[in-house]
Amino acid sequence: MPSLPSSDELIFFVNGRKVVEKSADPEMNLLFYLRKVLHLTGTKYGCGSGGCGACTVMVSRYDPKTKKIRHYPVTACLVPICSLYGAAVTTVEGIGSIKTRIHPVQERLAKCHGTQCGFCSPGMAMSIYTLLRNHPEPTPEQIMEALGGNLCRCTGYRPIIESGNTFCMASTVCQMKGSGKCCMDQEERSSVKGQEKICTKLYNEDEFQPLDPSQEPIFPPELIRMAEDPSKRRLTFQGERTTWMTPVTLNDLLELKANYPKAPLVMGNTTVGPGIKFKDEFHPVFISPFGLPELYFVDSTDNGGVTIGAGYSLAQLNDTLHFIVSEQPKEKTKTYRALLTHLRTLAGVQIRSMATLGGHVVSRPNFSDLNPILAAGNATIKLISKEGERQIPLDGHFLERLPEVDLKSEEIVLSVYIPHSTQWHFVSGLRLAQRQENAFAIVNAGMSVKFEDGTDTIKDLKIFYGRVGPTVVSANQTCKQLIGRQWDDQMLSDACRLVLDEIYIPPGAEGGMVEYKRTLIISLLFKFYLKVRRGLNKMDPQKFPDIPENFMSAVDNFPIGTPQGLQMFQCVNPYQPPQDPVGHPMMHQSAIKHATGEAVYVDDMPPVAQELFLAVVTSTRAHAKIIAIDVSEALAHPGVVDVITAEDVPGDNNHKGEILYAQNEVICVGQIVCTVAADTYAHAKEATKKVKVTYEDIEPRIITIEQALEYNSFLSDEKKIEQGNVEQAFKHVDQIIEGEIHVEGQEHFYMETQTILAIPKEEDKEMVLHVGTQFPTRVQEFVAAALNIPENRVACHMKRTGGAFGGKLSKPALLGAVCAVAANKTGRPIRFVLERGDDMLITAGRHPLLGKYKIGFMNNGVIKAADVEYYINGGCTPEVSELVIEFVVLKSENAYHVPNYRCRGRACKTNLPSNTAFRGFGFPQVSVVVEAYITAVASQCNLLPEEVREINMYKRISKTTYKQTFNPEPLQRCWKECLEKSSFYARKRDAEEFNKNNYWKKRGLAVVPMKYTVALPEAYYNQAAALVHIYMDGSVLVIHGGCEIGQGLYTKMIQVASRELNIPISYIHTSETSTVTVPNASFTAGSMSTDINGRAVQNACQILMARLQPVIRKNPEGSWEDWIAKAYKECISLSTTGYFKGYQTHMDWEKEEGEPFPYFVYGAACSEVEVDCLTGAHKLLRTDIFMDAAFSINPALDIGQIEGAFIQGMGLYTIEELKYSPEGVLYSRGPEDYKIPTVTEIPEEFYVTLVRSRNPIAIYSSKGLGEAGMFMGNSVIFALHDAVAAARRERGLANTFTLNSPATPEAIRMACADQFTDMIPRDDPSTFTPWSIHVS
Ligand SMILES: Cc1cc2nc3c(=O)[nH]c(=O)nc-3n(C[C@H](O)[C@H](O)[C@H](O)COP(=O)(O)OP(=O)(O)OC[C@H]3O[C@@H](n4cnc5c(N)ncnc54)[C@H](O)[C@@H]3O)c2cc1C
Ligand code: FES
Ligand code: FES
Repeated sequence: MPSLPSSDELIFFVNGRKVVEKSADPEMNLLFYLRKVLHLTGTKYGCGSGGCGACTVMVSRYDPKTKKIRHYPVTACLVPICSLYGAAVTTVEGIGSIKTRIHPVQERLAKCHGTQCGFCSPGMAMSIYTLLRNHPEPTPEQIMEALGGNLCRCTGYRPIIESGNTFCMASTVCQMKGSGKCCMDQEERSSVKGQEKICTKLYNEDEFQPLDPSQEPIFPPELIRMAEDPSKRRLTFQGERTTWMTPVTLNDLLELKANYPKAPLVMGNTTVGPGIKFKDEFHPVFISPFGLPELYFVDSTDNGGVTIGAGYSLAQLNDTLHFIVSEQPKEKTKTYRALLTHLRTLAGVQIRSMATLGGHVVSRPNFSDLNPILAAGNATIKLISKEGERQIPLDGHFLERLPEVDLKSEEIVLSVYIPHSTQWHFVSGLRLAQRQENAFAIVNAGMSVKFEDGTDTIKDLKIFYGRVGPTVVSANQTCKQLIGRQWDDQMLSDACRLVLDEIYIPPGAEGGMVEYKRTLIISLLFKFYLKVRRGLNKMDPQKFPDIPENFMSAVDNFPIGTPQGLQMFQCVNPYQPPQDPVGHPMMHQSAIKHATGEAVYVDDMPPVAQELFLAVVTSTRAHAKIIAIDVSEALAHPGVVDVITAEDVPGDNNHKGEILYAQNEVICVGQIVCTVAADTYAHAKEATKKVKVTYEDIEPRIITIEQALEYNSFLSDEKKIEQGNVEQAFKHVDQIIEGEIHVEGQEHFYMETQTILAIPKEEDKEMVLHVGTQFPTRVQEFVAAALNIPENRVACHMKRTGGAFGGKLSKPALLGAVCAVAANKTGRPIRFVLERGDDMLITAGRHPLLGKYKIGFMNNGVIKAADVEYYINGGCTPEVSELVIEFVVLKSENAYHVPNYRCRGRACKTNLPSNTAFRGFGFPQVSVVVEAYITAVASQCNLLPEEVREINMYKRISKTTYKQTFNPEPLQRCWKECLEKSSFYARKRDAEEFNKNNYWKKRGLAVVPMKYTVALPEAYYNQAAALVHIYMDGSVLVIHGGCEIGQGLYTKMIQVASRELNIPISYIHTSETSTVTVPNASFTAGSMSTDINGRAVQNACQILMARLQPVIRKNPEGSWEDWIAKAYKECISLSTTGYFKGYQTHMDWEKEEGEPFPYFVYGAACSEVEVDCLTGAHKLLRTDIFMDAAFSINPALDIGQIEGAFIQGMGLYTIEELKYSPEGVLYSRGPEDYKIPTVTEIPEEFYVTLVRSRNPIAIYSSKGLGEAGMFMGNSVIFALHDAVAAARRERGLANTFTLNSPATPEAIRMACADQFTDMIPRDDPSTFTPWSIHVS
């Protein structure tokens, strides 16, 4: 290998400022550089793998050939800084800031309530901004496309899309404009009943600044000069371990490739980057011909096809193909159109803008969406090396990586040639993924058939599948055998048989879903068969009969629409003083800061002197003895300061049963064994790989609930509630059904991973922590216990966190203690930011649940008796599992009165990481079981599930199973309004009609009611305190014990203080929550934080107002400032604490009765879905939610909570699937293999109504709504059930069937059994070990 020259200067621009980096490290990515070197922390880390969009920035480049500037979005985490030579980067700080001027994109994102926790917001803003730079008046479709690569876990996307739509021509904020339903048509609508007015306007568009594209920063002229410089020369950047070379001519590139044949060509880095990060690949040399003109061109002069340069990004490929399709006759563009359908959903627009055609073709991932189509379309690849050029077919052999047809190590791809299709030639791309967009296919395919002219006799057939083996595979033998056959049903049937013989997926194959994949192989083939038959018919209807009318819909995929909808809530009483913000849809107090990236999260805090970074070593065994931990090599690694183990914990390493560092044994995969503290995270991480842990497995290893039951392995005693006489009742019912439902767990996927900064103080063993948590008190407790110091030495600060959802309730205490132990040992500040993969592995999530039921009912649908048992998979330590099972048992009746009812529940102890709190705390799981047995009863009685629901629903003042009295009037109102306003029965009839006419697509609807609760049975958890200071200038500081986790708690508290003190909100500030200011605060959870903290703030404000009264009385016309000044002079204390004793709840488990909850929240939701029976994909057509909000303190925030929770619930019940190995290893550790909903999953029509009721017990008669919406997602799984039931009825299958949660495409497809599922080979489960298992 030749010797390497020393480093060049890396020159690029960031936000208009020139950056000259003299020691650019090829291993450093742009995200790191922005955050840690330039201290531009607006760009966020969410995953590090290009999958979440939190790090989106805009890159602009000047093309000297076209003299044009291209602006495109990228995920900064996958951009090596060395690739940026000559580029201009724009980050969220560069488009606007509070200090200067905020950009309209930022303003509208904030004012449309498109931010909650705000962690995704800079990325969202940059995606919309980049689109606007290219299309100042975009279409709603372009907005959807621009947002497809950005995840948001809080908002449910609707307001984000809406903020983008405000830029569309003839502002398409609401697609219902002109229909009389739109907010812009009428400001307020009178409600049908009474005098109350209904409002539909959550923000005022008139306030928005206009978008003025001429105001945007110009592209730096220096970069234009650099790009046009004729004397450009090769650039070399020398890093700590690697070298980067950018050739500037093709010859230079070929020379380099010949010299460094093993060096990857880094183009988009979307394969190379993840390979380095996740597969531990190491490349000492990188060659990056990025921008080399010879790789960027399109040649469509050839009449037979188009040649596209290998450097073209997939986004540029997309634009090119669109252009060709618009120019060429349809028959020539079948391959291009097939590619375009897949290009629309392949990753997000950021990845498509980075990834190149050459990189895609060469890397040949088995999930490639384009290669199967390119192969089916007879594409060829032009290769070049110093030896010369050659052309090779992009065919099966190439895709299967047969060595004799592969690239030689010194060759590069110059271009790809894609021929036009011809008249008797059909090309299609087919795919199915867990979610429609930005998800690797589960199976995809490229297929083409060429007929003898004028006939349907097969002349040539090509079938390629992705994701069914380690490479894309060709069904070559099948195709050969079918040549000469007619394109008819008999051919199809033989084709299915042959292809199943040829493409064998072993039962234990990596990736699992084996039977589903086998089914998809032939289901996709069938779709292709139908498409071609349609095509033939269009060409000659006389000769080629069309497919049956009711098969038509099988051909088309679900379109990606632009969602529309309406949010309805009670208008504020017109007599309320204008200054009083209570009841108004006030924007989140930090929204603008979220959108500008100026909101500070823990890892955005500037470096602290001497700080170290922490990386974790976690157990790779589920249950094993630790024989030895050898840290010597790790300690010797550069930059490493120390390795911390259980022996370094001065105090309690096992506080309340939660183990900080594993000692002697490990009890789950993912348990922290030790941590490494080093000067950089990269050093710490590298060193963790050098820690050698020797294990000896211990039996038993318990992973599933079933195994726990077998071993009697439990975390708590049984909890039971019983009423009536269950045994007796079973004797007098018409029918009895028994069944089991499994509900799998859920990952929180908060966008900001767990982050802690621990700073040890010199004096008195004090430890200061900055941490994203819902429960600072617990962090303080655990840290004090671990360090063996009193709690008064531990200060825990929490300003905000990027989403929590229960995941930051107890886990930060454990992680905080782990971090504090490291800080204590090293005596230096420790920054501990979990990588996404570690976060998912270590912190676990929602409890998987198994429900077993026995239900006795009458033929008219009345349920007389229920005997239900629930088991949750708690994992390896107690955590909050006992509380979760209590909630499961207490809430298990949902909205139904069953006179003879027995419910038992138990938390199982397994060797999985401990599951924890998650929005809804068991209720979202248990409610699936309840609605499933209701649905099963309906099916047995030949009734609609909605009829059985209504028959059994609580209707009048009643007692719950635990004898708490309540009035279900709002429940009834929500239910009735939901049925009526959603036109449920009419739409149900329409769906039946649709189903009659469509064999392969089915629609389904479901309406589900909800009776939910807030707060906790233990009264002491419901207490809260506040601290309010009034300063001499009249400004007010409000502090309380609640945490701002995105729900807008601080905003609501400001609203409360504003009303109570009778001053505008501009006078009031909230800074942070801290154990120093408010001690012993309860957790922010259980939908009660506004209730309890609001009362405490109210109390404090009322105390202050009472003190001010004498002053006010003396000078009633005075201003607030006058009164405060006077009060100070009169020595009236202007500071006080406020306190709320809490709801006096209680539960007696011995007596099985109590008043565990202060009040109930009711609601109902109706969803309609359409299912593709051949693939299992579904589309959510419409959702209507009616939520009893009583009086909403802030309708924008409450609707935000409902919509966000609904989408999160929908994710839980449909696409979010955690995969575990039989040995208890979690496979799903990032956005690439765990799919939360994206913009494309939200309902096409989404209506949310806040229903008014009274709730005098809570502040301002409001209700806590943080969690309730989660359950509403339930309507989607039962709508899916309804659709699948329709398919099954038509196919003559049993009407009563079980759809476990999540109802993934796999579950749906396999439930819609048909001739294809009948054809596939099945495996005897006793003969193989599956790749993954369910743990519920
Ligand atoms: C978050 C994410 C989501 C994705 N989703 C999808 C998806 O849904 N469907 C899908 O099909 N793909 C998906 N991909 C994969 C993506 O399409 C490929 O990673 C991409 O096309 C590779 O192109 P690149 O320019 O980034 O390659 P690089 O990473 O730069 O290079 C990849 C390899 O190709 C070689 N190479 C590059 N260019 C040349 C050339 N001209 N000549 C010779 N060798 C070359 C390099 O040496 C290297 O080995 C996804 C990727 C990411 C990160
Ligand atoms: S952090 Fe870059 S895409 Fe997630
Ligand atoms: S606001 Fe989008 S992730 Fe929190």
